[in-house]
Amino acid sequence: MALDLVISGGTVVTAEKTFHADVGIRGEKIVELKAGLSGEKTIDAAGKLVLPGGVDSHCHIEQLSSMGVMTADDFYSATVSAAHGGTTTVIPFCAQHRGDVLAEVLADYHSRARAKAVIDYGFHLIIANPDERTLQRDLPAAIHSGVRSFKIFMTYERTRLTDEQILDVMAAARKNGALVMVHAENHGVISWLAGRMVNQGNTLPRYHAICHTRGAEAEAIERVVRFAELVDCPILIVHVSTPEGIEAIRQARARGLKVFGETCPQYLFLTAKDIDIGLQGALFCCSPPPRDEKAQEACWRGLKDGTLHVYSSDHAPYGMEGKLPKGEKTTFKEMANGVPGLELRLPLLFTYGKNRITLEEFVNLTSTRHAQTYGLYPRKGTIAVGSDADIAIWDPERKVTVETTHDRTGYTPYKGRVLTGWPITVLSRGEVIVADGKLAAERGRGQFLERAPSPALKPLGRDVPEIAQLKAWNTPLQL
Ligand code: URP
Ligand code: ZN
Ligand code: ZN
Repeated sequence: MALDLVISGGTVVTAEKTFHADVGIRGEKIVELKAGLSGEKTIDAAGKLVLPGGVDSHCHIEQLSSMGVMTADDFYSATVSAAHGGTTTVIPFCAQHRGDVLAEVLADYHSRARAKAVIDYGFHLIIANPDERTLQRDLPAAIHSGVRSFKIFMTYERTRLTDEQILDVMAAARKNGALVMVHAENHGVISWLAGRMVNQGNTLPRYHAICHTRGAEAEAIERVVRFAELVDCPILIVHVSTPEGIEAIRQARARGLKVFGETCPQYLFLTAKDIDIGLQGALFCCSPPPRDEKAQEACWRGLKDGTLHVYSSDHAPYGMEGKLPKGEKTTFKEMANGVPGLELRLPLLFTYGKNRITLEEFVNLTSTRHAQTYGLYPRKGTIAVGSDADIAIWDPERKVTVETTHDRTGYTPYKGRVLTGWPITVLSRGEVIVADGKLAAERGRGQFLERAPSPALKPLGRDVPEIAQLKAWNTPLQL
């Protein structure tokens, strides 16, 4: 049968290898990978890199934040922005707030995403109301409908869980085969310092970076690792920003635990100095905050040695009204937390990673590992026969001076940077959705991705001494 489309003459890169081949596409799938293919249509990729589309497994879209602020992006603008930066799959959050019924939250996100997304998407949940119904009914149902991961917060007044609730949620994840993603910062440290700062009249955004201490991140990671060990539940610590936090994950891994880490562009390419510019520093505030050059180096090392498993955007898009709701009277406690990053996540790593990571590592960190970790592989995250034809054709020499992006925040923290390497043509399931900077995708064409259990996330089957003792007494702990 004839091929619909051939991407010819390019250099294909996967997480394992780089090789010359044409990519033959029929319908939505890659069906052949070899030299000399011909098809009904051809895209000439000579001199270009042919990479799997990015998979961004941490982004906030059309979501009410932990502080109760709506993101500037909806499912259309966020996915359009992602596509322009070479990302073809996103996994945003369906956020439960206190009092919300989880099944209703999930249904609501499904209906909004279905109508607007231009690329494929899965969902994680945010669990902020782990009541009986959530834990016994709605969470298991969501997991079995392909929503196999959820985030919990150790800080933020409106969404944080107590230690007992964290253990409850982990037990539900263990029972039903899901991954727990953790926002790990010590709430007491942050709120105690923030109270003192505001009382002393220190209200500028730069004090946000003071209150979210390095120790607050490290303490929370160490604590939640112990909980995960007790329940024997794999966890992934999101947006890790400090050498101390990375070290805590490294040590957990050295003890054989399934503790994974994630970092984001803001921890590689921004520092606390970006926040220290008066009130406008709000635009660079996220939690945890960007740190310093030493922390950036630690993040690069963590990515290189696998302690940090994935590189995601944590796209949390807020315009000026979210960032400075009270104008000049805004203190750092009222600013929406988060920075946009969906579009520039890949071009930033491509540019600054040149002398640090290989092309295969680039693909792994931006695409393959996300698909593997979150149960989308090999449908997504690679270029292989049988995979979806989600492909970004990169011009490795293209220089782009960052001015604006396609999201709705009205700013980018990376304005003025000169990036080298850009996705010039982007395909999703065989369809060209971006061609030379122009969108060619219809609203609502994106499909929901039901995710499979990830083999990498099977529990260890290893008990802490007290759980082993219970088993020896024939009175095992009931999860
Ligand atoms: O500041 C951030 N990261 N905002 C987004 C919400 C979260 O905590 O990931
Ligand atoms: Zn978070
Ligand atoms: Zn986030």
